[in-house]
Amino acid sequence: MRVPDRVRLVEVGPRDGLQNEAVPVSTDLKVALIERLADAGLPVVEATSFVSPKWVPQMADAADVMARIRRRPGVSYPVLVPNLKGLEAALAAKAGEVAVFAAASESFSRRNINCSIDESLDRFAPVCEAALAAGVRVRGYISCVLGCPYEGAIAPAAVAAVGRRLAAMGCYEISLGDTIGTGTPVHAQQMIEAVAEHVPIASLAGHFHDTYGQALGNILAAMQLGVATFDSSVAGLGGCPYAKGATGNVATEDVVYMLHGMGIATGVDLDLVVAAGEFISGALGRATASRAGRALAAKRVRKTT
Ligand code: HMG
Ligand code: MG
Repeated sequence: MRVPDRVRLVEVGPRDGLQNEAVPVSTDLKVALIERLADAGLPVVEATSFVSPKWVPQMADAADVMARIRRRPGVSYPVLVPNLKGLEAALAAKAGEVAVFAAASESFSRRNINCSIDESLDRFAPVCEAALAAGVRVRGYISCVLGCPYEGAIAPAAVAAVGRRLAAMGCYEISLGDTIGTGTPVHAQQMIEAVAEHVPIASLAGHFHDTYGQALGNILAAMQLGVATFDSSVAGLGGCPYAKGATGNVATEDVVYMLHGMGIATGVDLDLVVAAGEFISGALGRATASRAGRALAAKRVRKTT
């Protein structure tokens, strides 16, 4: 089976996960989680988003989070920015990387960022230009690549069109978001193949929410096409505030367990990610959504009793 030797994991729990929590999460807890994830060897920990606090109140402390994390050499802490106002705040907070976020579905674009796809891309062009001029690299997200909560099926060509424009703006990587987790492996491959006609496969990342339990299968299918970067969320935290019913990203623990089992390097210490998952789940007062996390934690308890 053709798969990469090494996979780069982008931890999105502190942002994609915590943005969706109904009760306020303290800045202390966010910072502690980010530190644990970086300690676990994750090379990228998406830290927060500089979005309107009216839209996503949970991310209102973005500047404080960025001021308080200890930045480890070699670890990147990207933040989401929806417009120039967000970019200015991100630059003031000394973010080294930002992410703009578009959608392949018009209805989702309107609900999430209050504008059409075209308007969002027109808005992102100067954001990318200013970020790159400041020496900050830009990642581009596309939501609803395998289905939309409002429109249903999304054509691979629609994803490819947005991917092409984000890449042309200078995004070094395009993260393909299955926001509602409805995608299945063959469909995921068809979508990736369509995008790869315009964007090199090495610049594509998979971002699979695990709502229907398809994320690991989709990751395997994407790896077979050469995709070697995946977003994941510790303890499977999260969802999206503008995609009702969407659950978290695929759990980082589950992805690391699968990749290491296949002999694929990640640089991540699985035990430390499991501990970070137990830490945040305990603090939020619920069980982890990671199957591997649950199994490994139970095994450790059995060994020590
Ligand atoms: P709008 O209401 O059209 O914008 O929202 P506006 O320019 O009229 O601004 C409204 C108010 O927000 C103003 O304040 C602005 O100053 C303020 P007021 O004058 O009323 O007091 N404002 C800001 N404040 C702080 N930071 C900013 C900012 N911008 C405006 N950057 C807007 C448009 C894009 C701002 C809004 O819709 C928004 O912030 N949306 C963000 C939604 C979001 O964060 N969604 C979750 C992330 S995406 C995701 O999870 C998907 C992903 O994981 C991939 C996948 O799974 O598919 C990435
Ligand atoms: Mg997401």
